[in-house]
Amino acid sequence: MHTNVNVIKHPLLEHSLTILRDRDTQTATFRQHSKIVSTLLVVEAAKSIATAARAIETPLAAMEGAALSEKVIVVPVLRAGLAMLFAAQDLLLDVPVGFLGLERDEETAVAREYYQKFPGRLDGYKALILDPMLATGGSLDETVQAVERRGCNDISMVCVVAAPEGIDRVMERHSGVTLHTGAIDERLDENKYIVPGLGDFGDRYFGT
Ligand code: PRP
Ligand code: URA
Repeated sequence: MHTNVNVIKHPLLEHSLTILRDRDTQTATFRQHSKIVSTLLVVEAAKSIATAARAIETPLAAMEGAALSEKVIVVPVLRAGLAMLFAAQDLLLDVPVGFLGLERDEETAVAREYYQKFPGRLDGYKALILDPMLATGGSLDETVQAVERRGCNDISMVCVVAAPEGIDRVMERHSGVTLHTGAIDERLDENKYIVPGLGDFGDRYFGT
C-alpha cells in the first residue's frame, strides 16, 4: 500500500458515489451527485493548504482569523475533469486553472494529448489535479509530468475512483505526489475499464 494515498470515507460521499455507479442513473442525477462527490473530495484535498493569521474586526471585537496563504492552481484533465472543476471553483473562488486535454485511444487505452493551456510557470504553487477516473494511470502520469515541467513540486491528484494498477503506476513514477480518492476498486478489465467502476465518466456526465 502506498502511504500517500488517501481514501476518503464519508457517508455523503459513499451515498453519492453509489448513485454514480448505478447503471440506471441518468445524466441530470449523475451531474448532481458528481458535484457532491467532487466537493467532498476537494475539501479533503484542500486540507493541506497553508493559512496565515489575518487580523480582522467583527462587529463586536478585534480578533485574529485566518486566510489562505498559498498559491493554488487546479488542473482539470479534459474532458471529464471539468465535472470536478465546477465544484472546485465554488470552494477556491479565485484560483487559476490550467487545462490538459487527453483522450484515451479506444483500442490501446493510451492517452493522446490534444490541448494544453497553463497560466505560465507554476513554481511555488500547490497543484490540485482533477480527474475522476484513474485507470491505467497513463493520463495522470502525463498530467503530473506537465505540471512538474512548469516548476511545481507540490502536487495532489483528486479522483473519484482509482484502480490499483493505475495507482501503482503513478505512485512508482511520482513518489512525492498525493492521491485523494473516493474509492480504490478491484481491477481493470480487458478494455482497461475500472471494475466495478462506474463506466465511462465523461460519456455519462456529458450525455454522449
Ligand atoms: C478517461 C478519464 C481519465 C482517463 C483515465 O478519460 O476521464 O482521464 O480516461 O484513464 P487512464 O488512467 O487509463 O489514462 P477519456 O480518455 O475517456 O476522455 P474524456 O475525459 O474526454 O471522456
Ligand atoms: N475512463 C473512464 O471513464 N472509466 C473507466 O473505467 C476507465 C477510464
